[in-house]
Amino acid sequence: FGQYPENTIIQRPIVAAHRGVPSQAPENTMAGYRLAYDLGADQIETDVQRTKDGQLVIMHDNTVDRTTNGTGAVDALTLEEIRALDAGVKYDQKFAGEKVPTFKEFLQGFKGKNVLLLVELKDKGIEQQVIDEIKSEGMMDQVSIQSFYLDSMQTMNNISPELPIGYLFSASVPKTVEAKLQNAKKMVDYGTMNDVNLNASYGSIYEEYIQYSRQRGQMSMHWTFRAEDPFAEKLKQGMIGPITDYTQWLTASPIQL
Ligand code: G3P
Ligand code: CA
Repeated sequence: FGQYPENTIIQRPIVAAHRGVPSQAPENTMAGYRLAYDLGADQIETDVQRTKDGQLVIMHDNTVDRTTNGTGAVDALTLEEIRALDAGVKYDQKFAGEKVPTFKEFLQGFKGKNVLLLVELKDKGIEQQVIDEIKSEGMMDQVSIQSFYLDSMQTMNNISPELPIGYLFSASVPKTVEAKLQNAKKMVDYGTMNDVNLNASYGSIYEEYIQYSRQRGQMSMHWTFRAEDPFAEKLKQGMIGPITDYTQWLTASPIQL
């Protein structure tokens, strides 16, 4: 982001590649994830759903329509039907032939590599299956889970308390700063969950909120950075973890504090 005066403190954030690097490659494809890894992402973010025949696949939307050459809801299609689709050609002809990854393929692609996998559960009810697949790959120490469904995260925590959990939300309601912080504390203290990272949207976080999260030793990740301005501002407020469509910006350019 430009030149810095001498004695500038430089901090490199913990960067999560949102669905891979959708600014340079089709989202949620192995090509996109490999690019994220090559660009130096600290985490690779992805979205998991279950097919009609009970298999875990990677897809953001409820349907395959936007990102593939097919149509239909993910939970109305079999794995075989989804694997026959092209997940790259709509983005650019040069990515033709990219398939919708299975969750297992995603895990195996980065097993043992120096990157954390930030796995978002788009469906409720798949918690046990997700954990089983992570365990069967021996990757419990390489995965972090997140969801917009707090009860689903509670279930994850009950099954595997050792797995780091992030609760996704936008704190735009309630409106006041005090009420937002209070809301955050309630989320952390929810149920029997030991702790939960507060993965709020970047528009919802502010210095006091970020400090609260940091004081609890959380690695809260914030979404989704697609422009440079809010990123620099939020880093100054103490934010640690941006989730971004532009991994190439954030791993390549140190930020002035
Ligand atoms: O990682 C957070 C972010 O992915 C949540 O929103 O809709 O892109 O899955 P969405
Ligand atoms: Ca996501």
